Amino acid sequence: MAEVVIVPDQATGGDIAARRIASLVHAKPDAVLGLATGSTPLPVWSALVALRLDLARVGGFALDEYIGLPEGHPESYRAVITREVVEPLGLDPALVHVPAEGLSANALAGAGEAYEAAIRAAGGVDLQILGIGRTGHIGFNEPGSSLASLTRVKTLAQWTREDNARFFDGDVARVPQHCVTQGLGTILRAGQLVLLAWGESKAEAVAAAVEGPVTASVPASVIQLHRDVTVIVDEAAGSRLRYADYYRQAWDQRPEWDRR
Ligand code: PGA
Repeated sequence: MAEVVIVPDQATGGDIAARRIASLVHAKPDAVLGLATGSTPLPVWSALVALRLDLARVGGFALDEYIGLPEGHPESYRAVITREVVEPLGLDPALVHVPAEGLSANALAGAGEAYEAAIRAAGGVDLQILGIGRTGHIGFNEPGSSLASLTRVKTLAQWTREDNARFFDGDVARVPQHCVTQGLGTILRAGQLVLLAWGESKAEAVAAAVEGPVTASVPASVIQLHRDVTVIVDEAAGSRLRYADYYRQAWDQRPEWDRR
């Protein structure tokens, strides 16, 4: 079962996730992180900055990237990761990877394979940070994604493009239609998963992912197949969880040896 942590605010949740990363890096200074973009992980990065760790040897693999934005576009996930993660945390840009980088449109068919190979060559992702979409997507694995999928080109769902229009001056037409995303099978290979969600708009997706059946219709439900998952939600995002009382009890009473 996933460990579910219901926190009073995003800062507390970000701090818990940052401490997970800190203990990983303490044990393994060249650890590899799976990096999510979007608004959700921002409190994790700021909590991590505050811990002032030396992350110069830490590697990173972004979950996904848009197809079709001009190189250097500020909303490309390469640019977002550079601005929000690499620079503030002092990561080595040479160790941080984004899918399909530098590939021309007709080379995209091999982008998934190449990314999987790069992840393998780096020794795999040790800790994957995840947000969740309103539809239950993780990465850009929209409903219907194979639970065994690996990195590949996908078409973005219209509702995801609408959600992301806020990063493109509110103009959904400017949000790309395609992406390359790690698959659900790729995500399951990470050593541990930390999924975060804030706000009422995520409550239904969180409950379906954590407590619903494992189904491609709710891609995030695949986390139930992983042995080491922490789900960190604020009160609003956790408001539809049926077993919230038990999760709170389990967190408050977690054994001393399990306080990562
Ligand atoms: P958000 O997106 O962090 O911007 O809410 C999450 C997601 O779509 O995975």
